[in-house]
Amino acid sequence: MTATADRTQNLETRVRLTEYARCAGCAAKMGPLDLKAALSALSPRSDARLLVGHETFDDAAVFLLSPGVALIQTVDFFAPIVDDPYDFGRVAAANAISDVYAMGGEPLTALAITAFPTGKLPTSVLGDILRGGESIAHEAGALIVGGHTITDEEIKFGLAVTGRANPDRLLTNAGARPGDVILLTKPIGTGILATQAKRGRLDEGAYDGLVRSMTTLNAAASRVALAVGAICATDVTGFGLLGHAYHVARASNVTVRINADAVPLLDGVVASLADGAGTGGAERNERFVADAIQWNDATPAQRACLLDPQTSGGLLIALPAAAAREFQSQFPNAHVIGNVLSRGKHPLVIA
Ligand code: CO
Ligand code: CO
Repeated sequence: MTATADRTQNLETRVRLTEYARCAGCAAKMGPLDLKAALSALSPRSDARLLVGHETFDDAAVFLLSPGVALIQTVDFFAPIVDDPYDFGRVAAANAISDVYAMGGEPLTALAITAFPTGKLPTSVLGDILRGGESIAHEAGALIVGGHTITDEEIKFGLAVTGRANPDRLLTNAGARPGDVILLTKPIGTGILATQAKRGRLDEGAYDGLVRSMTTLNAAASRVALAVGAICATDVTGFGLLGHAYHVARASNVTVRINADAVPLLDGVVASLADGAGTGGAERNERFVADAIQWNDATPAQRACLLDPQTSGGLLIALPAAAAREFQSQFPNAHVIGNVLSRGKHPLVIA
């Protein structure tokens, strides 16, 4: 497909998709504390075949189907964070499929979940969203096999993804060990940049970098992680780098130390922050980690980046130093951003 054919077919209608989202610049994920309170009302049944459930805050559920074969299930959907329908479909699909990669799995099939203001926008806009989602699913080797669409003032799109994994080769939050180093496979700052874009103040180069990052699958990162023997990974999404690092620290019963200066940022993040592009999601994420973190000398800008809700972020992987070097030789975009210590007073320490 050519670059022009890849683009949405609705540019002439000048549809700005983010006008159909209530929350600017973030996936509008419910705050982790609110979610925890709501989930406490449930009484999940235990089953020996449920290898990974939601108690470790992992990216997807893993269910043992038969010896050597585990089923992975996950769902993600959200309102537009970019204006182009085709790009929005790609971003939402890459974000949803990522949770399968974050568990060390392979996506197989997906169902599309869509809310659309029927009658207010041409159905070709919906077609572009779905086409974008399909293109990413196909790139991931997954089939979109159905879905469900409702009418809603706010556009929403995402996928429920089914995958499979080797139950003996899973990547979970619970596998970090003292002495491991922490790798991150994509720069952060998607919430800040999307907010700046919605304000109409993000330059084209930074915008393209944002979309490129959010539409890049975590397939290669996951494959290399498994190849070098990783057992601990998660993807960095709505709870921000620190929210997800906290999940790892808690599930692994360790302290995760993040070197703020070493965390890679997308182009335009520093300037956008200085221009006032903050997100409400960062405040919710800050409350989530408030009691768990020792900030030391982190600057307000560093804090804002580390708490910034990410959409379709990279993998955060814990690995012994030698394996981490091997990972970086096969995946040069990965940055060492911290290390794992035995559990100290705080589960999270910023250096
Ligand atoms: Co995830
Ligand atoms: Co998710």
